[in-house]
Amino acid sequence: MLDFKNKTIAEIVSDDISTASVFKKYNLDFCCGGGKTVENACIKANINVDEVISDLHSNPSKNDVPELNFKNWNVDFLIDYIVNVHHTYVKDNLSIILEFSTKVASVHGHNAPETIEIDRLFTTLANELTAHLKKEETILFPAIKTKLKDNSYEYDKNVIAILEDEHDSAGTIVKKIQELSNNFTPPEWACNTFKALYFKLDEFINDLYQHIHLENNILFPKVK
Ligand SMILES: [Fe+2]
Ligand SMILES: [Fe+2]
Repeated sequence: MLDFKNKTIAEIVSDDISTASVFKKYNLDFCCGGGKTVENACIKANINVDEVISDLHSNPSKNDVPELNFKNWNVDFLIDYIVNVHHTYVKDNLSIILEFSTKVASVHGHNAPETIEIDRLFTTLANELTAHLKKEETILFPAIKTKLKDNSYEYDKNVIAILEDEHDSAGTIVKKIQELSNNFTPPEWACNTFKALYFKLDEFINDLYQHIHLENNILFPKVK
C-alpha cells in the first residue's frame, strides 16, 4: 500500500494527476502549496487525514482521467503541451466567462452581492493571466528551448521565481472565488447565465490548477 501520508501533495499529483480531484474536494492546494506532506496539510487545514488517504486509495475519478505520465515527458514536448492545451484553453475561455460574470453581477448583484466581488476578482485574474501567459510564451519558454539546443546559452533564471509568484497570486484569487461561490454552487433561484457562470468558473479553475501544477511541480524543477 502506498505511503500517501508522508508524501508531499505535489509528489502524489505528479505521480498520478487523477488524484488532483481528491485534493480539490478537500480544498487542499496541490499547485502552489503542494510542497507540504498530506499529513501536515491536513493538520493545518483541520481536515481528517484518514478520510483523505482513504479517498486517495479509492480515488473514484481514476478511470476518468487518461494516464499521462507528464514527469517522463521531455521538456520541449511538455512546453508545447502546456501552451497548446492550457494556454489555448485560457485564451478561448476568458472572454466568455468575463461576459457571464459582468452580466450576472449587474443583474443579480443586489440579491447576491458576492457576484459583484467575483466579477471584480475574475477581471483581475483575467488581466494578470493574460500578461503572465505572454511572459511564458515570449520570454521563458523560448529561452528554455534555446538552452535545450545550445547548452552554452544562459538566461535569467529569476524569471521563474517571478512566474511562481504570479502563480501564487492567481491561486489566492481562485481560492477567494471558490469560497465566495460556495464551491461553485448557484442559489436555487439562479438563472441559466448564473448557472453557466459557476459551471465555467469551476471548469476554468480545474484547468488552471492542472496548468500551474505542470509548471510549478514538473516543468520548473526540470529547468532550474
Ligand atoms: Fe502557463
Ligand atoms: Fe504559469
